[in-house]
Amino acid sequence: MNKKLNLALIGAGRIGKLHAETIAFRIPEAKLAAITDVQRDAAEAVAQRCTIPRVASDAGEILQDSDIDAVLICSPTNTHADLVIEAARAGKHVFCEKPIDHSIEKVDRALSEVKKAGVKLQVGYNRRFDPNFARVRRAIVSGEIGTPHLMHIISRDPAPPPISYIKNSGGMFLDMTTHDFDMARFLIGDEVTQIYAAAGVRVDPQIGEAGDVDTAVIVLHFANGAIGTIDNCRKAPYGYDQRVEVLGSRGSIST
Ligand SMILES: NC(=O)c1ccc[n+]([C@@H]2O[C@H](COP(=O)([O-])OP(=O)(O)OC[C@H]3O[C@@H](n4cnc5c(N)ncnc54)[C@H](O)[C@@H]3O)[C@@H](O)[C@H]2O)c1
Repeated sequence: MNKKLNLALIGAGRIGKLHAETIAFRIPEAKLAAITDVQRDAAEAVAQRCTIPRVASDAGEILQDSDIDAVLICSPTNTHADLVIEAARAGKHVFCEKPIDHSIEKVDRALSEVKKAGVKLQVGYNRRFDPNFARVRRAIVSGEIGTPHLMHIISRDPAPPPISYIKNSGGMFLDMTTHDFDMARFLIGDEVTQIYAAAGVRVDPQIGEAGDVDTAVIVLHFANGAIGTIDNCRKAPYGYDQRVEVLGSRGSIST
C-alpha cells in the first residue's frame, strides 16, 4: 500500500495558508507534517486550523528531517532560489511558488542543483492546470482552430496586495504578469521574440510611490509569427478575472 506523502510548508502567509488548507482538506494522499514561518504565530495559526502536528523553528529544521518527502516553498520570492537549492541538496522534492527568482542566473543555479539532486520541482504556475485553459491549449495542439494568429489574455486581480508586499515583489510584470507570460508560452507553444508595454498607475498612487505600476497592456510577438496581448490590472472591482481568446486560421476559442 502506498504511504501518505509527508509534506512540510515554508511560509504561512496568504498563499501558504491556501496550500495548507488544500492539502489538509482536499488531498487525502498527502499530509502536512510540519510548518515554519519567520513569524511563528503565523505558522501556529495555520498549524492549528489545518491540524499540522509540528511548528518547526526554521526551514533548516524541516530540511534535516528524513521523514519529510517534499517541501512547499511559500515564503517571499527573494527567499525562493536559496530554499530550492537547500531543499534539493537535502534530497527533498520541491513545490516552489512563482517566480523562482527575478534573476535568470539565480533561477539557472537553482535548476541545476535540482537536476544534480534528481528531485522533482514544480513551480506554482497554477493556471496551466485549470481545465478551461487546458482545453484552449488542446484546441491549439490538435489543430482544431488551425494556426494561431492572435491571442488575448485578460488577467485582473480582485484587489492589489499590501504595499509592503508590492515593495518586495519585483514589480507587477515579474510578480503578476509572470503568470500570463507563462500562459502565453504554454498556449502558443513558442517563444516570444519581441515585447512592449503601455503601463500606468490607475488603482493606487501608493503603488506608484513604491516605484511600480498597477495597470498595463503588453504586446507579444512570437517566433512563429503569432501576436498576443496581455491586459493586466491589480484591481477588478467585480472580482478575479481570468480570460483568454485565441484566433486561429480555422476558428477561435475562448474561456
Ligand atoms: N501562484 C499564485 O497565484 C500566487 C499567489 C500569491 C502569491 N504567490 C507567491 O507566493 C509567495 C508568497 O506570497 P504571499 O502573498 O503568500 O506573501 P505573504 O507576505 O503573505 O507571506 C509570506 C510569508 O512568508 C514568511 N517568511 C518570510 N521569510 C521566510 C523564511 N525565510 N522562512 C519562512 N517563512 C518566511 C512571512 O513571515 C510571511 O508569513 C510569493 O513568491 C508570491 O509571488 C503566488
